[in-house]
Amino acid sequence: MTQTAAQPISGLPQARERVFSGIQPSGASHLGNYLGAQANYVAMQAEYDAIYAIVDYHALTTVHDGEELRRLTHEMVLDLLAVGLDPDRCALIRQSDMPEHAELCWVLNTVVPVSWLERTPTYKEKRQQGVDNSMGLLDYPVLQAADIVIYKATRVPVGKDQAAHLELSREIVRAFNRRYGSVFPEPQAVYTESPVVLGIDGATKMSKSAGNTIPIFAEPDEIRRLVMSMVTDPLRIKRTDPGRPEVCNVCGNLHRFFGGDYLQIQDGERTARTGCVETKQLLADRIIAFFEPMRERRAELAATPGIVEEVLAAGAAKVRPLLVETMREVHDAVGIGTR
Ligand code: TRP
Repeated sequence: MTQTAAQPISGLPQARERVFSGIQPSGASHLGNYLGAQANYVAMQAEYDAIYAIVDYHALTTVHDGEELRRLTHEMVLDLLAVGLDPDRCALIRQSDMPEHAELCWVLNTVVPVSWLERTPTYKEKRQQGVDNSMGLLDYPVLQAADIVIYKATRVPVGKDQAAHLELSREIVRAFNRRYGSVFPEPQAVYTESPVVLGIDGATKMSKSAGNTIPIFAEPDEIRRLVMSMVTDPLRIKRTDPGRPEVCNVCGNLHRFFGGDYLQIQDGERTARTGCVETKQLLADRIIAFFEPMRERRAELAATPGIVEEVLAAGAAKVRPLLVETMREVHDAVGIGTR
């Protein structure tokens, strides 16, 4: 069997490569989410045939309250629209509106050795954090592979933490194609300029579970309070001590994304011309100004009844033909269903 090229989403030019990414509905979007992945989602919708899914099936591995999951999913759609995803240029979907993702996951399960999943780093980490050792948790990366390949997407914008999952997706594709012929293309991860953003502690990755985030839609006062509490160079004790931008999350990293003068800012810190407090004040001002229009947009969207379901229904309608076609090929290749 030969691999058929992915069909374009109707209305979009044919030659564009397809992009897919999944987003966990895991609570308020923060600077790490934005700089690590969301900024790329927005940038890529212009050049690619992009599909973005809120992965509520995946979230079932950790969110065990139905009302809460529904709320988180709704909020994440608002966040993504507010940061600039445009439903006219991309498809924004809810994973569970497409039960075929779960069906394809099952088919892929039959080619994936359990040992591949047991040695996945994220699985081991989540076990250590005390997440229930469910079949769903173990199988998580296979559902992720299904999400991507059901649309034959070849580019996957994600944070660096997803590198192992993407490698696994590629291995799963190879295992399937070896057994059944070349049905799926191998997807490739695409990282942002800042794939890892450190948290307020300046030491560990910004994440909700670590409790060190700066939520991008928080009130300006709250953003300022959090930025002012950020750890800078721990060896810069006195105002007159020179700082080290290489180890400082504020001047060495975050300022790079909020103003073109970051080299001067770094120089100011290195020579002790400026102090951490003023540099943090400036960063807080810039972060607040940068996200202000998005915060306003989000408030407008949140006040528009039915907007979320409308966007999701439009997204589902756009991508459904693609997935139906892939599942027909899969059924045909593995020998299930009628021809
Ligand atoms: N595992 C991803 C995360 O936690 C979410 C995800 C699910 C995903 N399916 C995907 C990402 C497919 C990229 C492609 O961020």
